[in-house]
Amino acid sequence: MAGQKKSWEKRLKGQPDPKTVDFVESLSYDFRLYKYDIAGSIAHAQMLYEQNLILKDEYNQIKAGLLEIQKRIEDGKFKFDKTYEDIHMAIEAALVQKIGNAGKKLHTGRSRNDQVATDIRLWLRDQIKSISAKIRSLQKTFVKMASKYEQDIMPAYTHLQRAQPVAMGIYLLSFVEQLDRDLTRFENCRSLANVCPLGSGAIAGSTLPLDRKITAKRLGFADISYNSIDAVSDRDFAAEFIFDCSLAAIHLSRLAEDWIIYSSNEFDFIGIDDKYCTSSSMMPQKRNPDLLELIRAKTAGVLGELVAMLTILKALPTGYNRDLQEDKLHLFRAADAVVASLDVAKAIVSNTKFNTRKIKSSLDQGFLDATALAEYLVGKGIAFREAHGIVGGLVAFCESKRKKLADLSIETLKEHCGLIDVDVYDSLGAENIVKRYQTEGSAGLKQLAEQIVFWNKKLNA
Ligand code: ARG
Repeated sequence: MAGQKKSWEKRLKGQPDPKTVDFVESLSYDFRLYKYDIAGSIAHAQMLYEQNLILKDEYNQIKAGLLEIQKRIEDGKFKFDKTYEDIHMAIEAALVQKIGNAGKKLHTGRSRNDQVATDIRLWLRDQIKSISAKIRSLQKTFVKMASKYEQDIMPAYTHLQRAQPVAMGIYLLSFVEQLDRDLTRFENCRSLANVCPLGSGAIAGSTLPLDRKITAKRLGFADISYNSIDAVSDRDFAAEFIFDCSLAAIHLSRLAEDWIIYSSNEFDFIGIDDKYCTSSSMMPQKRNPDLLELIRAKTAGVLGELVAMLTILKALPTGYNRDLQEDKLHLFRAADAVVASLDVAKAIVSNTKFNTRKIKSSLDQGFLDATALAEYLVGKGIAFREAHGIVGGLVAFCESKRKKLADLSIETLKEHCGLIDVDVYDSLGAENIVKRYQTEGSAGLKQLAEQIVFWNKKLNA
């Protein structure tokens, strides 16, 4: 290939400034698309042959050549030369070098604009498949943990203040719900992206009789795109995918934040396995939840990728613009962060233990039973607003006497509200309350048992 590297070297005078080469290249990151680029090229070449645009023998040479290039890449023997700009040019040049004239026919009826749009969609489909499997696996880990703590209770917090008692498993399953919505979002994204832009050319399609449907079918797409101008400009799916990554990362960051707090000495709710902690270079006693902190920090990066992707798209003129090349930087970074965080989250969740004894011993703190007591009064015919006030008064009284609600004698209780009876004690204390929740979707032990059955069935289906 001495002399002419790219076909447009006849159009532009002289050699490009080395700064140009460095600035326009994307090979340093889009090399990751090689498998998809080759699959797309083989499907395209087969269609070219079937449409009598190239000879059968040429197609065979192209296919064999591309598969060999793929093997060379996978064996680490392929030389990535950034003067070819991107993975598409690098592979095509290697093919021409290898098979000569037949290789020069591969790009018939095609532009890098529809080629790259196809490659990213193929990459995205695979990525979503692997992220979905990781989400499912993390969900299963949470469900397993919820079953392990099927009888345990913990305080739930609002404003990080003790609120009401809940089944520990329901807390754990709250993450399963979030992850399930994440999975649905990724699946929706996949189906919107699963149309084939190949054949849209640079912007206007082609005057050649390309059979787009057959190529799309062979590449496993559900359909073709129907507007060549839109097809080469559209990166909605890229922004959407990064948004889906953002929410998944945000969910993981909330788990991370909870468990960082829960693992502090002050809370001492959980023990994170030493395998997933680090220490301090100065303070010998330290056991730090750095991995959770990094999950939290990586979320910030993913949000940045989303803003970058959306900003690239904002006010971009119709048609392909080179700005779109950088979509891959943001897609790859967002996906890599989420993949790594899901893996680490799963490892941590699988190896974390709740200090059930410690949690149990302080369940009588913070008046977790106040709301249930107000609802008890509703059962006695008192308006909720009234009941709320009565219990508020009782709590203030208890605080002044350093007592719990359950410590109060029936006489004292009756002084605050004549309708209170001895059955009130069934509505006091965290243990009683988690058995009494009856509304569907409550955080009680009954609901937990049902939810575990539900999720086991759904996740093992
Ligand atoms: N490397 C480019 C990208 O990733 C490929 C398309 C370039 N097209 C062009 N007309 N310059 O977007």
